[in-house]
Amino acid sequence: MKKVLGLVVSNRKLGNSEILVKEIINNIPEECNRELIRLTDLEIKPCKACYRCLQPNNACPVRDDFNFVIEKIREADALIIGVPVYFLGPHGYYKMLTDRLLGSQNYSQDTQGKPCIIVMPYGSEGWEGYSKIACMVMPKLLRMKLVDCWQIHASLPGESLLNPENISYARALGRELFNGREYHAESKECPICGSDLFRLINENQVECPICGSRGILKNNFSPDFSDSDYRRFSDHEMDEHFKGWLLEMKDRFSAEKNHLKELQKGYRNQNWWIKPCRLDEC
Ligand SMILES: Cc1cc2nc3c(=O)[nH]c(=O)nc-3n(C[C@H](O)[C@H](O)[C@H](O)COP(=O)(O)O)c2cc1C
Repeated sequence: MKKVLGLVVSNRKLGNSEILVKEIINNIPEECNRELIRLTDLEIKPCKACYRCLQPNNACPVRDDFNFVIEKIREADALIIGVPVYFLGPHGYYKMLTDRLLGSQNYSQDTQGKPCIIVMPYGSEGWEGYSKIACMVMPKLLRMKLVDCWQIHASLPGESLLNPENISYARALGRELFNGREYHAESKECPICGSDLFRLINENQVECPICGSRGILKNNFSPDFSDSDYRRFSDHEMDEHFKGWLLEMKDRFSAEKNHLKELQKGYRNQNWWIKPCRLDEC
């Protein structure tokens, strides 16, 4: 039986993220085992940058709920993410989870090609900011197949239900989750990854900040990336970066460690750190 995991990254009970994730999952025609995680109920600490997880078979050593979440994602046949826009980007807890994926290329064989839907409610037209491109990074790192990245205007808790078209669309996503549907970039989006923001390089040349592809803007302002030979999320580039460059960094660090320690020394005693006084420490 297929396993489907819903990942809700909002504290709001019965908010738009939760409701739409549930609507999608509820309409999957295949018999499946459904599970939901509310990420904000769990503890996800910052990445310690220890690089331990870069070695195959090393779980993240940070003691929190990350390993539980990633195991659930790895064993699921499909992932449905509901994450609202907070201050022009995705909810910060989603970024916290994404930052913990340094070891992702050691287990992306479990997630590769599996369908992933992102539903992203936002409250204010024009305040979507960089949220779309930022939320696509996680499924890209996991080499999942993006079925849709649906940004939906809904502000109040449950407001997405006021428009019956939203419910129909969520149901269609559920019905089509396992039937091969794949996200196709719109005409003004990056044709490689679907990003809706570009970096200006020179004259009419633009770069996609997410997949790094470069191209030109045609007269109708559609991006043409047909000559680009760089694709950050291609299997080749991902292996180069994670299994090549990042591992080389470890060796470089070993070689430079003593010299770097010498340079760092002068800052060691500058201890101006402050912390709030916790009740049990006062
Ligand atoms: C702290 C905070 C920041 C927000 N920032 C934005 C924003 O920058 N742009 C926007 O369109 N909506 C913003 N919103 C509105 C939410 O995206 C919107 O209410 C959404 O429906 C919440 O989803 P939920 O019901 O699943 O929690 C913000 C909401 C909160 C609480």
